[in-house]
Amino acid sequence: MRMILVGPPGAGKGTQAARLVETYAIPHISTGDMFRAAVKAGTELGKRADEYMQQGALVPDSLVIDMVLERIQQPDCASGFMLDGFPRTTPQAQALDQALSAAGIELDAVVLIEVPDELIEDRIIHRRQDPETGAIYHLINNPPTDEAVRARLVHRKDDTAEACRARLEKYHAETAPIVPFYGAKGLLKRVDGVGSPDDVEVRIKAALA
Ligand code: AP5
Ligand code: MG
Repeated sequence: MRMILVGPPGAGKGTQAARLVETYAIPHISTGDMFRAAVKAGTELGKRADEYMQQGALVPDSLVIDMVLERIQQPDCASGFMLDGFPRTTPQAQALDQALSAAGIELDAVVLIEVPDELIEDRIIHRRQDPETGAIYHLINNPPTDEAVRARLVHRKDDTAEACRARLEKYHAETAPIVPFYGAKGLLKRVDGVGSPDDVEVRIKAALA
């Protein structure tokens, strides 16, 4: 299975990816997670990406595209992969398309998780992540039950109301235009992202079946 998860910030891409990669036994490739790891490691790439991420801006295509094209050539991607948060601009979609064509590889599906703008801010502001396991929580809807996990939760630097608005604007301006690109290829599956994570997972699996 070679697939892409697209959706606005807070749509539940990371939440659903964690579930789907177990089912399909494919690596989860999140460009946001890759950049956050680079920031944490203090690499040159991390330093450059951090400036953009904190403001809710997109990291320049030139820094993203090579990173992903290199990642999907790794041996663990030979039989499939799940891209989360890439592509998110038209040049990124075109670069991926060209690289896959050159390698004789086809995508199976592009899943668009649709969530209205008015629900996004609450999800983003209350999101917390367990730095040890990567598990994603919501302080109100889905808090951790383990006190030790609760104590070590972290809040992303770009999960402020201000950065959230900027990310949402970027999504509509830069990322939404890739949706018709994949629609024209017959790959697009639109899934309603409102409801419990279990409900959304069932809808995605039905769309992929
Ligand atoms: P990235 O990390 O990709 O962030 P994003 O796209 O803004 O998406 P999020 O991770 O915020 O949300 P999500 O859809 O994964 O939702 P989640 O499952 O966590 O990118 C971050 C930044 O990196 C970008 O702004 C940019 O600067 C840079 N970047 C990354 N990729 C790039 C690229 N390709 N090009 C350029 N720059 C790039 O869920 C959110 C919350 O909602 C959680 O609290 C969760 O518990 C809750 N939740 C999930 N599902 C549900 C549900 N069904 N009902 C209720 N609550 C739910
Ligand atoms: Mg995510």
